[in-house]
Amino acid sequence: MQHHPVGIIGSGKYVPERILTNRELEQMVETNDEWIVTRTGIRERRIAAAEQATSDLAYEAAVKALEASGLSAEDLDLILVATITPDMFFPSTASLLQARLGAKKAAAFDLSAACTGFIYGLATASSMIATGMYNHVLVVGAECLSRITDYTDRNTCILFGDGAGAVVLGRVPEGRGFKSFELGADGTGGELLKIGGGGSRLPSSQASVADKQHYIYMAGREVFKFAVRIMGGAAEEALRKAGIEKSEIDLLVPHQANIRIIESALNRLELPPEKCMVNLDKYGNISAASIPIALAEAVEQGRVNEGDCIVLVGFGGGLTWGASVLIW
Ligand code: ACO
Repeated sequence: MQHHPVGIIGSGKYVPERILTNRELEQMVETNDEWIVTRTGIRERRIAAAEQATSDLAYEAAVKALEASGLSAEDLDLILVATITPDMFFPSTASLLQARLGAKKAAAFDLSAACTGFIYGLATASSMIATGMYNHVLVVGAECLSRITDYTDRNTCILFGDGAGAVVLGRVPEGRGFKSFELGADGTGGELLKIGGGGSRLPSSQASVADKQHYIYMAGREVFKFAVRIMGGAAEEALRKAGIEKSEIDLLVPHQANIRIIESALNRLELPPEKCMVNLDKYGNISAASIPIALAEAVEQGRVNEGDCIVLVGFGGGLTWGASVLIW
């Protein structure tokens, strides 16, 4: 599919120190630890400190990814941040990160595809390297979902957390790197998962804030059904494009939204649980940051070896979905 093989040459993650447990949520809304664990698999999540914004989390993850790649910030040609919780509308979080890193040569932009943003970002960045336009791109998924979560809404507040994951992409030897991407969208489902206010349709006002339009709205059951259908399907399509069989997968790194959604994908792909990276018990759903954090953690834990077949798969607001097959 590409002129030059492109792959991940460094990864890193950062999660804030503050832990919000299910027990604490029991004090905030009508819920309980048992319900949250059995319905979602989540036990705790991380919450950014008051002075931390998304670019601060992104910075910590980016520094680690650069270190792991052996490159310095000046080597970067592009910084791409996937997020739905930018520090502000503009400048982009990628621009703020570019300044903080001192990546003087790098272009910078944000990408908005909700929880699928990181996979959309990988597809975009790897194409730019494959065609010879760039040599090194930093792709970050970073979110402060706690800032757009209504902590009086038990349908959503139990799910989300904060954090960032980053990778550096560059050329890799023949036979390695990204083998395929499968990206998709169904805008007719946009209403199921959204922040309605604060944009040009409904600018922020006292009324929009009183109506909680600055918070995430989610039709949980509908999103759940969509996710179960699309996770396995997207991964299968990416495998088909790569010419790789399900049985050849060494590690699945799925979006960390709900353990039941992940289990349905494992069933469809006929994979045992030990071939799947799961950390939602510790971090909850961190939208665009979930997949890069899970990938970086898998690398830290020595679960990713040279030549392994890794499948990344995610879904989210838009509605959007994406999957990628890569050889490490
Ligand atoms: N504690 C206790 N009870 C609850 C809670 C809670 N935190 N939340 C909901 N309930 C209740 C509901 O009110 C409902 O009660 P009712 O039957 O009296 O109406 C009952 O539990 C069952 O509710 P469901 O919505 O059917 O529960 P479900 O099993 O579907 O789980 C959940 C809800 C966890 C939200 C699930 O639907 C889900 O994971 N959806 C997908 C969410 C997701 O993956 N989002 C990803 C994208 S996020 C992004 O892009 C930023």
